[in-house]
Amino acid sequence: MPEIWTRNDRSQYERGLTTPDKETTIATTEGSRVDNKLSRGDLELFDRQPQTADVTEELLRSLGASEKSVSARYFYDQRGSELFEAITQLPEYYLTRTEMALFDTLADELRAAIGADCALVEYGSGSSKKIRQLLETVAPLAYVPVDISLSHMQHNARELHRDYPNLHIYPTCADITRRFELPEPVAQLNKVGFFPGSSIGNFSPDQAVEFLSNVARTLGTGSRLIVGVDRKKDSAILEAAYNDSAGVTAEFNLNMMKHLGELLGVDLAPEKFVHRADYDAETGCIRMFLEAVEAHEVEANGARIRFSEGERVHTESSYKYAPEEFAEIARRGGFRQVSHWSDPNDWFSVFLLEVVSD
Ligand code: AVJ
Repeated sequence: MPEIWTRNDRSQYERGLTTPDKETTIATTEGSRVDNKLSRGDLELFDRQPQTADVTEELLRSLGASEKSVSARYFYDQRGSELFEAITQLPEYYLTRTEMALFDTLADELRAAIGADCALVEYGSGSSKKIRQLLETVAPLAYVPVDISLSHMQHNARELHRDYPNLHIYPTCADITRRFELPEPVAQLNKVGFFPGSSIGNFSPDQAVEFLSNVARTLGTGSRLIVGVDRKKDSAILEAAYNDSAGVTAEFNLNMMKHLGELLGVDLAPEKFVHRADYDAETGCIRMFLEAVEAHEVEANGARIRFSEGERVHTESSYKYAPEEFAEIARRGGFRQVSHWSDPNDWFSVFLLEVVSD
């Protein structure tokens, strides 16, 4: 199993993109050794994590406020990531399968629009299964998955390294909501950004503009970005996608309370909350909440957190956009629209954008 090195571990290797004679070996299952000429792609980890913010302080502030709201990033502990995978398989959750089908039909167009020999930068890669489809289509030289969670990326990167031995893989641990530096080895390559799944919907429209401005600066003028965006549609379809009949989304939401309790070292009593998700057509936003079914309070780090009966903790926003609305967001973020595609139902959009100014 090939290792993943951190920059520091590997400082003895002075290299650019071509590293003909790394002195590493890869053990096969039989225990014999093969030299890595079979495997010419680099696999190197880049740590771009901001100074570890004080999570306890942040959470106590969010949960102590009169309008309680917690960042959606706290969904994704191990269990939360598994539950999200399960959500993508649900009959009501049309987003993932609609987008994947769309990428399938767009393969030729994307290949034509994006030169090979590029570095593909995936924002919020998580345990993404979508990337293989795009790797086959675009055939990039390097792949840069960017995610806050190291463990997911490491696992995914190892498997990709095995299956695409020539691909250079530079997992980058960073908070995508802030600006970060790309790995040095891809500095000279053309960059193509990839932000699928309508994850951009987690940002408010203004935050989405700010995010895109950061992406524009990171990728550089002339670079392209492929972004998946969920469209506005009948509220019954939207609300069903976030209130599935099997209750997986409810479990996903409630798991956050368990995770927050673990981070704070207290029991926040997830059993005293219920899942709520509604669509606000005014703002074009699905909002998810955890609603306390009874008043209760817990003590955490000397602070008291009180929940009154019926009080809601906001856990996620998921904004939906008409194509022309998102085009305007992209423009404000420093991009021009190269192409826009939708599925036959007009439920989901894929945009190909180009950085105009960074
Ligand atoms: C991963 C943010 C795109 O908003 O649809 C799914 C997360 N939340 N079900 C979304 C989610 C509830 C998902 N994103």
